[in-house]
Amino acid sequence: MIPSCLNLQLTPLFPSPFLSVNRLSLLPSSTFPAFAAKSRRLAFAATKAPSISTMAAEQENAGNLKQKLAKLFQLSLEATVPGEPDIEPLVAACTAKFGDYQCNNAMGLWSKIKGRPGIEFRGPPAVGQAIMKNLPQSEMIESCSVAGPGFVNVVLSKNWMAKNIQKMLVDGIETWAPKLSIKRAVVDFSSPNIAKEMHVGHLRSTIIGDTLASMLEFSNVEVLRRNHVGDWGTQFGMLIEFLFEKFPNFEDVNETAIGDLQAFYKESKQRFDVDAEFKDRAQKAVVRLQSGEQMYRKAWAQICEISRREFDQVYQRLGVHLEEKGESFYNPYIPGVIEALTNQGLVEESKGARVIFIEGINIPLIVVKSDGGYNYASTDMTALWYRLTEEKAEWIIYVTDVGQQQHFDMFFKAAKRAGWLPADDRQYPKASHVGFGLVLGEDGKRFRTRSTEVVRLADLLDEAKTRSKAALIERGKAAEWTEEELEQTAEAVGYGAVKYADLKNNRLTNYTFDFDQMLNDKGNTAVYLLYAHARICSIIRKSGKDTGELKKTGKIVLDHADERALGLHLLQFAEVVEEACTNLLPNVLCEYLYNLSENYTRFYSNCQVVGSAEETSRLLLCEATAVVMRKCFFLLGIKPVYKI
Ligand code: ARG
Repeated sequence: MIPSCLNLQLTPLFPSPFLSVNRLSLLPSSTFPAFAAKSRRLAFAATKAPSISTMAAEQENAGNLKQKLAKLFQLSLEATVPGEPDIEPLVAACTAKFGDYQCNNAMGLWSKIKGRPGIEFRGPPAVGQAIMKNLPQSEMIESCSVAGPGFVNVVLSKNWMAKNIQKMLVDGIETWAPKLSIKRAVVDFSSPNIAKEMHVGHLRSTIIGDTLASMLEFSNVEVLRRNHVGDWGTQFGMLIEFLFEKFPNFEDVNETAIGDLQAFYKESKQRFDVDAEFKDRAQKAVVRLQSGEQMYRKAWAQICEISRREFDQVYQRLGVHLEEKGESFYNPYIPGVIEALTNQGLVEESKGARVIFIEGINIPLIVVKSDGGYNYASTDMTALWYRLTEEKAEWIIYVTDVGQQQHFDMFFKAAKRAGWLPADDRQYPKASHVGFGLVLGEDGKRFRTRSTEVVRLADLLDEAKTRSKAALIERGKAAEWTEEELEQTAEAVGYGAVKYADLKNNRLTNYTFDFDQMLNDKGNTAVYLLYAHARICSIIRKSGKDTGELKKTGKIVLDHADERALGLHLLQFAEVVEEACTNLLPNVLCEYLYNLSENYTRFYSNCQVVGSAEETSRLLLCEATAVVMRKCFFLLGIKPVYKI
């Protein structure tokens, strides 16, 4: 279960048992059990959060809008039922006709306290009335009312709202960043396999992982952006032997000589499948590589390098930054970790293999294969150990297709058995699997192109750019803009469209890759949103005013209903990013961005900006909208455009 935003903010930093222990990799593996025992003992004696009333006093102005209200309601709940501390205030945004926010505690509270001696309430509405009455005075709140079975509705003060938007304009959007209780996280994403194809699944992982990493970074978490490339394994035996065969002086071989690494992989696999002698050599090559024989190491490094260059081109085009720490990196640590787990009594023999049994799952997690070799799970267990102990990460996030869910579920449970992770998922350190669905073609089947079995990512990006350039030319931009402007805009719009189409859906559902749909300038697409942003910029430009000056001297007022609705939506940015970030759901941010642009359109069609009596205030609202939109684009990995 994922903690509510409020919990996450108020729960003190979970004391990682690993931090105080030692730098394990430097020690002989015999020290592992001591570490494990210690970590178990220390582990996860959950520290109780300080009471919210003291916190509220300490950080009066901290938190997002919802959290600020929750703190007020917490105080009211404590006063309403003094003998019932630690009631979590249930505060949510509500539909406009009732107010802006709502506190929904009355009913639950009533069923808890009814019939107790001294309780005078006669039902949930009375509890609601009391909650309303006990709400501390606050400049945030304009009015309150109680509806139905005790819902306490809050109408926010528009002066307070206006002041806060203005403050953000002056102090910067960073002041609206979520405040998480962790300092360091690992996001393991993209992670293609060397020499195999980097397919659309890896594209999804790259796009989703980049957004999650950016949201955490915005929240002041240090993120280790990890590319866990598949650069180790039995396929290298066959690749290396094939390389020796085709290029006797392989050291001079580069990507142009090999041509297409995927084709190279396929060709060598064919040999492997039909030629017994080759197969035998390939299997021996794996052993020689793993025992560190120089020539084999060199050939391996050569193949990895060629592959890496190909991947890097895609990352560069997508503007995604990652640090490679492939499977091979963790290899030297595997024996020590397995030994520690064995000494803890977790590893058992099963059909010649060494495995960890996991409650509730009938297949065990294999950590040493029956031939003595290591596998995907051995590496992942070790990488998790490394990330917790050596890198001191408190949240480790893995972005892969949902097909791998069971693998993650199993090794997370094994890590809990080992005492590396607390049993309670609301506590840190924590590991989370971010699964996503398949990419489908327009025919509803797994995405493929006509000519090749796999879709080359570079071709997809090319096509997105070409199509968006054609659309710009059709709008007459070739005559208005320089070639460079045309190129840059086509790229921002094209790549942005691919990313947004992926991110806007709940990641667990399959999504259909459809150029026509994603490049449509109407509807919920990046194109529509980028154009909306450019239009706001052009309104500000045409006013001839300097918003940098205006925000210092002018004043925002939210008198018109559409100004107020836009203002409220702007203020909700902080809680939405926090929700998207803590629940690992980029689509929540996309939905916010789309609604922001809808709110803006309503405001702009009903409130004259330039030349009106409210011009200054309205220009500042335009500016605030543009600032928030740009931050959303940035978090989603989309480059904004300023003119269109
Ligand atoms: N290389 C894997 C694949 O292509 C993904 C790796 C994900 N990360 C991990 N730590 N298992 O499916």
